[in-house]
Amino acid sequence: MSKIVILTGAGISAESGIKTFRDAGGLWEGHDVMEVASPEGWHANTGLVLDFYNQRRKQLLEVQPNKAHYFLARLEKDHEVHIITQNVDDLHERAGSSNVLHLHGELLKVRSTKNPTLVYPWTGDLSLGDLCEERSQLRPHIVWFGEEVSLMDQAIASCLEAEIFVIIGTSMQVYPAAGLIQYAPKNIPIFFIDPKPSVSGNYPNLKIIPEKAQSGVEILEIYLSTL
Ligand SMILES: NC(=O)c1ccc[n+]([C@@H]2O[C@H](COP(=O)([O-])OP(=O)(O)OC[C@H]3O[C@@H](n4cnc5c(N)ncnc54)[C@H](O)[C@@H]3O)[C@@H](O)[C@H]2O)c1
Repeated sequence: MSKIVILTGAGISAESGIKTFRDAGGLWEGHDVMEVASPEGWHANTGLVLDFYNQRRKQLLEVQPNKAHYFLARLEKDHEVHIITQNVDDLHERAGSSNVLHLHGELLKVRSTKNPTLVYPWTGDLSLGDLCEERSQLRPHIVWFGEEVSLMDQAIASCLEAEIFVIIGTSMQVYPAAGLIQYAPKNIPIFFIDPKPSVSGNYPNLKIIPEKAQSGVEILEIYLSTL
């Protein structure tokens, strides 16, 4: 069983009906990201931020995983699969993937604004006045711009041990996530599925598949069968 590490971004969920960031001109569902995805935005207009993630949570319950999510789940039959996702949706889990690291947090969780270790599952709306067990306001369990990506060490450890590295649907612009490719061993095959692929650096074993996620994984399947 080879160890496949897969880095996914908003593009893998695009064909499920969740808009990516950069395809919408750098806006997240019509909002400047600093307004809805930064500590400054939270302090400036907490109501707007709560409402934004309440809408994202509602939308998530209305969409389904697509063929690309299901393909990655099926890969577990023949490989040791580690998914590192920048996505805050739960479509990998709903498709059946069992090993998913959410670098940027999860829409279906909330956490205490006072004690970040207090994290709770959450499917409904989050409002001002919803408190943690230590009586502090709850906030979305999302890593906002400027905040520490606490799972980075775990993600790096996974990449260092990869035998095959796959990237799907990410603009490779959001750091530190985009830097993970640098930790993949130099001699392993790397595949990058994205209709507008962009990667900086020299990776001799990089195979670009310039396709959308669902058609791209069909090509990836052929490549994997030849390894
Ligand atoms: N689904 C989600 O959870 C979601 C959605 C939007 C934004 N975000 C957040 O915004 C940040 C954005 O960074 P990012 O790099 O993930 O996204 P991005 O929006 O910066 O880039 C999206 C990438 O997906 C590609 N793409 C578009 N349609 C595609 C398709 N059908 N198949 C494959 N690729 C496609 C684009 O060419 C682009 O390279 C992330 O940190 C993420 O947390 C998450």
